[in-house]
Amino acid sequence: MKLLITGGAGFIGSNFARYWTTQHPEDTVVILDKLTYAGNLQNIADIATRVTFVQGDICDTETVRQAMSGCSTVVHFAAESHVDRSIANPDVFIQTNVLGTHTLLRVARELDIARFHHVSTDEVLGQLPLETNERWDENSPYNPRSPYSASKAASDHLVRAYHTTYGLPITISNCANNYGPYLYPEKLLSLAITNLLEGKKVPIYGAGDQVREWLYVEDHCRGIEAILQKGTAGETYFIGPGEQRVTNLELIQKVLGMMGKNENSLEFVADRPGHDQRYALSIAKIERELGWHPTVALDDGLQRMIDWYSTNDIWWKPIKSGDYKKYYAQQYGTRG
Ligand code: NAD
Ligand code: DAU
Repeated sequence: MKLLITGGAGFIGSNFARYWTTQHPEDTVVILDKLTYAGNLQNIADIATRVTFVQGDICDTETVRQAMSGCSTVVHFAAESHVDRSIANPDVFIQTNVLGTHTLLRVARELDIARFHHVSTDEVLGQLPLETNERWDENSPYNPRSPYSASKAASDHLVRAYHTTYGLPITISNCANNYGPYLYPEKLLSLAITNLLEGKKVPIYGAGDQVREWLYVEDHCRGIEAILQKGTAGETYFIGPGEQRVTNLELIQKVLGMMGKNENSLEFVADRPGHDQRYALSIAKIERELGWHPTVALDDGLQRMIDWYSTNDIWWKPIKSGDYKKYYAQQYGTRG
């Protein structure tokens, strides 16, 4: 099989490319990635001989046509992915996440792609109250609340519309927060671990009482594999850790303990505007229908992640010393 991975130089896409080329060495893999601030060839340096890399924009029809030509399967990760950046500068989110996805769909239809898998997020559903234990399932209504999640919701709707209207064989996965190697150090866990390694504080938005669900990235890759192999065209599958409930503060307290730090390393800062309180996914459908289950417990995954960042400062130190500094100053002031 020839597979196109969009966004394969980013966090999850590069982990997926590594996973796929290890598990399916007979397949041909093409990565299409624009190499935005979040894309990094270092993320795929160790698998460079196993993939063909194309630098290009998913909004550009001719680039997409060339990259997709001869592929039977597309796994679409490319996106602007950081909520805080979408609040500061939403335009590029609409451009890439909505128009870019539409360009891919148009070309996938033209080239008769056998499976277009769209990687999406739990954030399209909005927020759940902190006071309940309610979980979303695949029939829950969409209610996105940030420019990022609204752009992802729009892309999900387009992907489904291409199935309903044109019969394009699509699948969609909506996943919880991923963590693990190569997570760009703007996201909570990688920011926290790298700041702590640098002797800096961890910024906690508001009171830190928001709840996210944390899935080790390799489990997400296995979930997408299960959908590609056993999923039904037209269907959506939720992927997450299942029964897990941890506030941001509790999560970072765990990390502090694992890294031999204490609460003096916390700094409570202004809350994110429109901050979603809680996400929680039921994973009953993918467990029941595809036999996928999460395998990495949170404490184990966190330890693996801390170990990886502790031994790979050669990866994250150059990132944190470049344009990132400007982003950090804008987002957090001079703290740190
Ligand atoms: P990321 O920001 O680490 O990587 C995104 C990649 O897409 C980068 O390599 C970037 O260069 C590339 N890209 C951006 N714009 C592009 C364009 N116009 N053309 C081509 N390439 C472009 O993101 P991630 O965290 O790996 O997320 C990947 C996907 O998974 C996204 O669609 C995101 O919405 C979804 N998702 C992420 C999470 C998470 O916790 N990170 C959870 C659920 C779903
Ligand atoms: O839920 C899936 C989503 O998870 C993905 O779709 C997004 O692409 C991904 O970025 C992630 O979004 P979040 O907003 O949940 O992740 P982030 O790491 O930015 O924040 C996690 C929580 O931590 C959130 O409640 C905000 C809070 N936070 C974040 C940062 C960066 C802080 O308290 N301090 C921080 O400095």
